[in-house]
Amino acid sequence: TSKSGSVINPAELLGGDLALLTTNIRRLLGSDHPVLKSIASYYFMGSGGKHIRPMLVLLVAQATSVGPTPLRPETPVSESLMNAPIPVNSPVIHFDPALPRDASSSTQTSTSNQGQILPTQRRLAEITEMIHTASLLHDDVIDVSLVRRAKPSVNAEYGNKMAILAGDFLLARASIALARLRNIEVVELLSTVISNLVEGEFMQLRNSANKSASAAAAASEQKSAAQESLETQLPASLAPASHQAQTREFTSDVSNQRFEYYLAKTYMKTASLIANSCKAAAVLGGSEAIVADAVYRYGRALGLAFQVVDDVLDFTVTADEMGKPVNADIKLGLATAPVLYAAEQFPELDTIIERGFKEDGDDALALRLVHQSNGIARTRDLAAAFCTEAVEAISVLPDSDAKKVLVQLTEAVLNRKH
Ligand code: FPP
Ligand code: MG
Ligand code: MG
Repeated sequence: TSKSGSVINPAELLGGDLALLTTNIRRLLGSDHPVLKSIASYYFMGSGGKHIRPMLVLLVAQATSVGPTPLRPETPVSESLMNAPIPVNSPVIHFDPALPRDASSSTQTSTSNQGQILPTQRRLAEITEMIHTASLLHDDVIDVSLVRRAKPSVNAEYGNKMAILAGDFLLARASIALARLRNIEVVELLSTVISNLVEGEFMQLRNSANKSASAAAAASEQKSAAQESLETQLPASLAPASHQAQTREFTSDVSNQRFEYYLAKTYMKTASLIANSCKAAAVLGGSEAIVADAVYRYGRALGLAFQVVDDVLDFTVTADEMGKPVNADIKLGLATAPVLYAAEQFPELDTIIERGFKEDGDDALALRLVHQSNGIARTRDLAAAFCTEAVEAISVLPDSDAKKVLVQLTEAVLNRKH
């Protein structure tokens, strides 16, 4: 329960804005090729998907629209342009900033707004779900994963080639919708997200490359300029302050570095999308920089918590409950937080982690040691610390139902079972 004692249901608060999400996305996915169209829409049919990213965008839109000062800009975006069908050989639609607003437009520009959501913010919510889904289409090919959202994955159903192309198509349609928001800062934020998704996946690939000796040799030969520049771009530490002190005191440099790399990768593959789309929602609403920054930090901390909990669930939950395979990370050669912590207690795990759990019996031994260690408990503590950070980040926002739900979501992330 929240501090006031009442729990608000996000679906109720967001009402039709969330209900229309998948219908609207399907509209953005038209193609003359019926198979491409149906594969791209595959995960947008029926129920399925938690829609966490779009929900956050809509909540941030509401939470940043309340306040003593008018935050909403006169938006020059024409809804008829935003909603125009995208023909297959799409001619460039020249955008005229002075375009009069559509008479039927429901674009909100009032200054006494209480929790209002702009059409551009609603579209942003759809774009985030499209980018996320595109990344899942590619991810299941990379991970050779045959189940997603309790049904056969796209690669299982249609094969790798079509799954990759459908992912690319989704990304391209998301890009068109993004361009039509006519906000260059938002385009840059979401493009950074796409770049980060690939970088995160690449960091993970390099880590698990030592599953095969030749891949490891090839990777180390290319201790590449690209990798070094990536490393220097990363923030010094993503760990919450309390956690940093703890690791510095008790653990070696190697395990600290390994942990920082894990967190940096986690930011790239999960938190960047959440953080930057929260910020983009605030930017579209015309929020001041201090507000945009606050919701970015909220999204980053919540995103890190979300993925860290995901990494725990991979050890603790059954495949049926998850709707996707479990114990998958170790099988893929990946050492996530529970194993990295367990290695501090059981140093024999170090060698096994280094060789990517590739020898017979490595998987089983690692699983057993994780469950014997305090790795899972410490990972949960880490997630809780990130949630605290998330709540603190949005303390600058005025009180509202949407803000209350944003806080509630930090608790829900910690308690989620799938
Ligand atoms: C799921 O992780 C995967 C991601 C969060 C990102 C994957 C990104 C890419 C494949 C890069 C390409 C990106 C785009 C936008 C086309 P997971 O495998 O740990 O989770 P899972 O258990 O849900 O599979
Ligand atoms: Mg996967
Ligand atoms: Mg993956």
